[in-house]
Amino acid sequence: MNRKIAILGSTGSIGVNTLRVIEGLGDGFEVFAITAHNNAELLAEQAKQFKPAYVGITNPEKEGELGEALGDFAGKILIGPEALVEIAEIAEVDTVVTAVVGAAGLAAVLGAAEKGKTLAIANKEPLVIAGELLTKIAKENNATILPIDSEHSAIFQSLQSGNIDEVSRIILTASGGPFRMAKPEDLENVTLEEALAHPTWDMGPKITVDSATMMNKALEVIEAVWLFGVSVEKIEILIHPESVIHSMVEFVDGSIVAQLGTPDMCVPIQYALTYPRRKAGISSPLKLDEIGKLTFEKPNYELFRAIGLGFEVAGKGGSAPVVFNAANEAAVEKFLAGEIKFAMIVEIIEHCVNEHRHLANVSLEELLKADTWARKEVESYVVQRAAGSGQQNT
Ligand SMILES: NC(=O)c1ccc[n+]([C@@H]2O[C@H](COP(=O)([O-])OP(=O)(O)OC[C@H]3O[C@@H](n4cnc5c(N)ncnc54)[C@H](OP(=O)(O)O)[C@@H]3O)[C@@H](O)[C@H]2O)c1
Repeated sequence: MNRKIAILGSTGSIGVNTLRVIEGLGDGFEVFAITAHNNAELLAEQAKQFKPAYVGITNPEKEGELGEALGDFAGKILIGPEALVEIAEIAEVDTVVTAVVGAAGLAAVLGAAEKGKTLAIANKEPLVIAGELLTKIAKENNATILPIDSEHSAIFQSLQSGNIDEVSRIILTASGGPFRMAKPEDLENVTLEEALAHPTWDMGPKITVDSATMMNKALEVIEAVWLFGVSVEKIEILIHPESVIHSMVEFVDGSIVAQLGTPDMCVPIQYALTYPRRKAGISSPLKLDEIGKLTFEKPNYELFRAIGLGFEVAGKGGSAPVVFNAANEAAVEKFLAGEIKFAMIVEIIEHCVNEHRHLANVSLEELLKADTWARKEVESYVVQRAAGSGQQNT
């Protein structure tokens, strides 16, 4: 029987690669539903090629454009943000690939977990902000959570070698991003173009900026805490510029197990779709003789303050991660829109984390309130900073 797959965010970097992987896998895998936010044209093209039963567009203003582009599409069309939850909860869907960006995917991930689906998670932000709740709901409803993030897929694969209580360290590798060798003053005048030029990975704009500030690694620390149920003290970050070792697990006997591969998201996407089996895929094999050597270094915590902040927030838990994430989302949006300087992103996040009134045990409602508070705080902080310095923040 075919595995019926829903892809939330099929028009993004992960979404497009997921469709390539499914096409490569051939029999046994069916694209059952796809969604986009704005890109009606690509969504319609994908619908014509893969013939899903459902197509969803979350931006209601795109309804007309999508209808026109779809022509005589035979499936169902869902409009508005709630399309994500509706699709994630469809009874026929076996696997939900979460590839939307940011907290927008939260309700759908929780809905899919409640329905006991297999969740192939690329969209790390819901795990960061509601990891405790999500993993609890998944456990209660026998939902399976499989990571797509390359580091977490590597950890997940390495963990097959032992038990979680035999783990002494989780070593999250990081390329270091485009500013690994920068000096603090260099970060002041980083352009959008420079921030979007990642040395090893080709990804969507938000995560590429997160990699440049190293917020991505900070979010991944929190993601790892919830995915693997480990304490933050066991997690370490190691800079590995070649992005060949995607992460490692050290066991109590001193053995380190790692997963290696070309920097290609199709590998972890495919593993999440075929798990627990493996199949021949579309990725090029890794040629270590051509790479020659692999290098490692410690992260520069002074230059990339987001990393230290990430560990602090992961240790605090409660409402801290949601504020950390929402402040970052709002700040990155402003940087992408040319409204603030690159260096202000982390300054804004630090401000929000320091100013917010921490709650240790949080309900979903409180999490959503903290998210709204942080986004508003970013707005007022940016205005305040511009007024204070008598100039634009860019
Ligand atoms: N790219 C990677 O290699 C990579 C690696 C690891 C983890 N991740 C994670 O995977 C997620 C997706 O990353 P990406 O790089 O694929 O992002 P992306 O290229 O920006 O794609 C985002 C997708 O989400 C849709 N979307 C945007 N805003 C939305 C909203 N408000 N509501 C619903 N859908 C929305 C977009 O639709 P439109 O195209 O119509 O705008 C698009 O389909 C992120 O959480 C990221 O951290 C990505």
